[in-house]
Amino acid sequence: MKIIEIHTPTQDSVISCETGCFLRHAPEFLAGHQNFVLTDSNVHALYGAQIAEVFADTPVYVLPAGEENKNRENLFAILQAMIDAGLHRNSYLFALGGGVVGDIGGLAAALYMRGIHCVQIPTTLLAQVDSSVGGKTAVDMGNVKNVVGAFYQPEAVLVDGTFLKTLPAREIRCGLGEIIKYGALNPLILDSLLENADRLFDLDYLSEIASDCIQHKSEVVQLDEREQNLRKSLNMGHTTAHALELNYGGLSHGEFVLIGMYYESKIAVAEGLATAEYAELLSGLILRVLGEVPRYAGLEKAAESARLDKKNAASDEVSMIVPAGYGVYAELKLPFEKYRDYLVRFAGK
Ligand SMILES: NC(=O)c1ccc[n+]([C@@H]2O[C@H](COP(=O)([O-])OP(=O)(O)OC[C@H]3O[C@@H](n4cnc5c(N)ncnc54)[C@H](O)[C@@H]3O)[C@@H](O)[C@H]2O)c1
Ligand SMILES: [Zn+2]
Repeated sequence: MKIIEIHTPTQDSVISCETGCFLRHAPEFLAGHQNFVLTDSNVHALYGAQIAEVFADTPVYVLPAGEENKNRENLFAILQAMIDAGLHRNSYLFALGGGVVGDIGGLAAALYMRGIHCVQIPTTLLAQVDSSVGGKTAVDMGNVKNVVGAFYQPEAVLVDGTFLKTLPAREIRCGLGEIIKYGALNPLILDSLLENADRLFDLDYLSEIASDCIQHKSEVVQLDEREQNLRKSLNMGHTTAHALELNYGGLSHGEFVLIGMYYESKIAVAEGLATAEYAELLSGLILRVLGEVPRYAGLEKAAESARLDKKNAASDEVSMIVPAGYGVYAELKLPFEKYRDYLVRFAGK
C-alpha cells in the first residue's frame, strides 16, 4: 500500500492507494459514530451490495448521477438528510463516487455543523488522480461551474483501483487527460508514461501511475493549498480546454484537457517556449488516447471565453500554463488578439 500525506494548517489528510482498500479500510472509520454515505445512482447500482456490506445500517444517500445534479438544491437536500440522520460533530461523511459526489459531499461535510469528518472514496479515474485530493469542494449555480465552494481537506482518501474495472472507456480517457497533464508537469511521470505508452489503458498500470500523480498533486497542495502560486500549474492546458468545453461540449473534461494541451503546446512552440520536438513527444501521448484531435469552426467565440476566464489578471489578456521543457511548465500571458489568432491558426477548420 502506498500512503501519501498532506499536511495543511487545518487538517492532516492521509491518502491510501491500494487495490481492495475500500473493503479493508473503510470499516476502520465507522466505530462509535453516527455516519453518512453519499453516492450516486450509477455507483449505487454497481456497488450497492458492497456498500451495504461495509456500511451496514449507516444511512446511504443516492444522488442522481450527472454534473447537472451538483447543485444547491441537492446540497441542501443532502444537508437535510444529514440532520434527519442525527449526525453530530464527530460523524463521518463518506463520499463514494466520482468527482460530482466528491465535490458536493465534501462541501456538505464542510458546512454541516461548520465541518465534520470527511472520507473520500473516489470511484472514477479522474476523481482518483485529481478531484478527491486537495480539498477543493463545490457546487455549480446556474451556468457557473464550482462557483460556490470551500477548501476542505478530507481526513482520508481511499484510492482503490478495483472501482476502475466498471468504468466506461470514455471515463478512463477522461482520467488519462489529467494523468498526461501530470506528465507534462513532472519528468518522472513523463518517463513512466513514455515507457508504458502501450499500457495507457491497462488498469494495473493506471493504478500504479495514479499514485505517482496523487503524490505530485499532494506536494503541490501542501505548498500552496489556496492556489496563490504553485497550484496554478495544475491548470496546464485548462484555459483552452475550458473554452472549448464551454462552446463545443460533447467530450469529457479530461479529453478537452488533452485537446487544450495539444493546441497550447503549439502556441508554446510558436512563442519560443518549447521545442517542436518536445511538442511532438507530448502530442504522441495525446494521440494515443484520443486517436485524433478535433478542429473547430467559429473559434473566435471560444477565444472570447478564454479571455473571460477567471484565471486572467487583466481583461485584455489570456493566461495559460503551457508545456515548456521536458516535464517543465511555463506561465504564458498573451494579448487577447494574439491568443485568438493562434487558436484559429492551429485549431481552426
Ligand atoms: N475538486 C477538485 O479539485 C476537482 C478537480 C477536477 C474535477 N472536479 C469535478 O469533478 C467532476 C467530474 O468528476 P468525474 O469525471 O468523476 O464525474 P462524475 O462524478 O460525474 O462521474 C462520471 C460518471 O461515471 C460514473 N461512475 C462513477 N464511478 C464509476 C465506476 N466505478 N464505474 C462505472 N461508472 C462510474 C458516474 O455515475 C458518472 O456517470 C466535475 O464536477 C468537476 O468539476 C473537481
Ligand atoms: Zn481538469
